[in-house]
Amino acid sequence: MELISSPPEMQRRAELARQAGERIALVPTMGALHEGHLTLIREGRRRASMLVVSIFVNPAQFGPNEDFRHYPRALAKDCELIRNVPVDVLFAPDTAAMYPPGAETWVEVTELSRGLCGAARPGHFRGVATVVAKLFNLVKPHVALFGEKDFQQLRIIRQMVRDLNFDLEIAAVPTVREPDGLAMSSRNTYLAPAERKQALAISQSLAAARERWTRGAADANDLLGAAWAVLRGAPVVEVEYLEAVDAETLVPVRDLSRPLVVAIAARVGSTRLIDNVLLTFDAERSAPRHH
Ligand code: PAF
Repeated sequence: MELISSPPEMQRRAELARQAGERIALVPTMGALHEGHLTLIREGRRRASMLVVSIFVNPAQFGPNEDFRHYPRALAKDCELIRNVPVDVLFAPDTAAMYPPGAETWVEVTELSRGLCGAARPGHFRGVATVVAKLFNLVKPHVALFGEKDFQQLRIIRQMVRDLNFDLEIAAVPTVREPDGLAMSSRNTYLAPAERKQALAISQSLAAARERWTRGAADANDLLGAAWAVLRGAPVVEVEYLEAVDAETLVPVRDLSRPLVVAIAARVGSTRLIDNVLLTFDAERSAPRHH
């Protein structure tokens, strides 16, 4: 596995690979890799001849009171985890190389960034879109892979690719869960054992909403009511938002005629966790897809 930290070197390496006819896959990450990332990385391996994983804890997507300084960093362990996939290039630039003094250009996907996580984390998705656009320009991937756990992020990246004519495919990979249902996240490592137990109410609340949907709910309030009933049993879980939104526009919905996402963000102690369930009609209503 090659380790590249210089952005211009990454760009040269990618250009040479393209000229040699390689198909490049990119899995962008912030490190502290877990099974969720490894699923993305293995899927990237399957889809390309050259697989690049980036590890960059992007300061631009953290608010002033968020956990940028304390975000878990584990480069040596991450290298060990991905070596055997195998990964061809690990791109791990430092902050000064990615944001040299004088940088002043931002990418903002305005409407899709307004609600859900965007409402509580102003500037977050601007930071995400900007760094992902930069990574696309540096790694020149034919395909980039993102997890459905960050549903709003995925939707925003797809919109950016469409709006700015990036020439690549965005592949979505279903959320990977712990055996008990908790969505995998680098932030799960922050949870104390008692918090970890109550955090389960997050995925259980979504399972309850899905169950209600399966049985033929009247409207979105019905789904949210089922989710709230679970959450009320876990007082440590402080809900920031619980919403049913259109899967395309991310605007809150009432009626259930179109594909929708029930999305939640909650604090468990000082740890902020997110999760969602996508409810689509590509199968029978009695058998919704659950990621
Ligand atoms: O999902 C993440 O880990 C980050 O938001 C990403 C896409 C790597 C951009 O920093």
